[in-house]
Amino acid sequence: MNKNLRKAVIAGNWKMNKTRPETLALINEIKPLAADAGCEVVVCVPFTNLETAVGAVKGTNIKVGAQNVHFEKSGAFTGEISADMLVEAGVDYVIIGHSERRRYFGETDETVNKRVKAALQAGLIPIMCVGELLWEREADITQEVVARQIKLDMAGFSSAEVKKTVIAYEPVWAIGTGKTATSEQAGEACGLIRSVIAKLHGKDTANAVTIQYGGSMNAQNAAELVAMPDVDGGLIGGASLKSADFGEIIKAASVK
Ligand code: 13P
Repeated sequence: MNKNLRKAVIAGNWKMNKTRPETLALINEIKPLAADAGCEVVVCVPFTNLETAVGAVKGTNIKVGAQNVHFEKSGAFTGEISADMLVEAGVDYVIIGHSERRRYFGETDETVNKRVKAALQAGLIPIMCVGELLWEREADITQEVVARQIKLDMAGFSSAEVKKTVIAYEPVWAIGTGKTATSEQAGEACGLIRSVIAKLHGKDTANAVTIQYGGSMNAQNAAELVAMPDVDGGLIGGASLKSADFGEIIKAASVK
């Protein structure tokens, strides 16, 4: 497995935070910190801040992402946004199947599968989230849970589609709790995901897929996590809202 063949992606998931002026200010702070990044840098902002963010990153190496996308092209789906709408807005990435969507908004493996497929068809890069609950880890079924999610969420995908998808391993018990997975736990789960993909699509595809870790990643623990052979960057919540912390994480992921 050659980690250097893969693109490490550091993506901030701002969740439901920041006004438009705050978005502009935070991106302006991140710009110099990302200028020499040796990894891809993405900010995933609320829908209403996309236009501001896309304008603010013009001429930089920072990419903008959304936090959800619907699978239909258009129609009577109140409150939803299509992949074409995101493309039109200048968005490159979209987070899909975050555990908060699964937990609070009825997202299922079936809808995650459809959303990722729609995003890929529109030319967006999906950041597809998987991860086990605390009681699943305690029951020692992390491997089964994560393997099942990968198999269902990517069911029917070609190897080319799998390669274009960024996968975020986010153990649900580590999100917003300050409880980070150890680097061994993160590395083991990302390695498991890669082996599931290798079985389904072959080693070349598995070696090419970017697999991030997410869950209480911060300026202090990022270096150790992203140094694991199967961890290709991170999906960061809380720490992505502070430019200095986000900058440290970018720096950690830029070390070759
Ligand atoms: P925290 O970094 O705040 O734990 O959030 C992680 C996350 O959910 C990123 O998508």
